[in-house]
Amino acid sequence: MSSPTKQYTALLPAAGIGSRMQASVPKQYLCLGSKTILQTTLDTFLAHPLIKQVVLVLHPDDCWYQTLSVSQAHKVLCVVGGEQRADSVLAGLAKLAADEWVLVHDAARPCISHQDITKLIAQVEAAQQGAILAYPVKDTMKRGNAQQQIVNTVPREQLWHALTPQMFQAGSLRDNISSALSQGQTVTDEASAMEWAGYSVALVKGRSDNIKVTNPEDLALAQWYLSQQTDEEIT
Ligand code: CTP
Ligand code: MG
Repeated sequence: MSSPTKQYTALLPAAGIGSRMQASVPKQYLCLGSKTILQTTLDTFLAHPLIKQVVLVLHPDDCWYQTLSVSQAHKVLCVVGGEQRADSVLAGLAKLAADEWVLVHDAARPCISHQDITKLIAQVEAAQQGAILAYPVKDTMKRGNAQQQIVNTVPREQLWHALTPQMFQAGSLRDNISSALSQGQTVTDEASAMEWAGYSVALVKGRSDNIKVTNPEDLALAQWYLSQQTDEEIT
């Protein structure tokens, strides 16, 4: 696969309130070492040679972003998000040209590496098809019922954890998320809207340390993963 040379826009939804984190500020404003989660994620994208701009989606009541040094970066365009993650993504997509390819990445995944961003872009450029970073399931998987009893064991050979970034053309992503939502579909990631619309989406194997910081115990893990990343992996 040849190395990509075009530049792309990254769309970072950061308009959540982090209810599962149970902190006094939204989790993207918690610090991992000396930097907030949001600044860490933004810095990685802004330093990537194939990223030309970042569309950052913020909560309407956000009063923290302006306090970050990254808020002065001229490559960041801020927009106001919505009730659900999919609404926030739609708000960001509204700023993009329909034929532009965009990488949508959870602000709450600060351990994303430059290697994985490049790998995803290379796959999309080669196949001209939407793709997501994903990681194969390792554990034995069980289907449970409402009584928390095992129904059966689900073969894990073809199961993947959906990660981000997820890369699609902005226009079709916008149309398919809008249609899926208007028909009552649950849209928890970009690929789910594209799958629902009948597109085939490629799985690109990413690193397992690209975790979504969700619960309090994830903070120490994310900080440790960041401390283990070598310059070579990050850049
Ligand atoms: N997000 C967003 N707009 C929303 C909800 C979520 O932009 N209405 C963003 C979050 O800020 C986060 C990413 O989407 O970067 C993934 O969402 P999640 O991990 O669920 O974050 P929160 O919704 O903030 O957390 P929780 O579900 O625990 O409240
Ligand atoms: Mg959420």
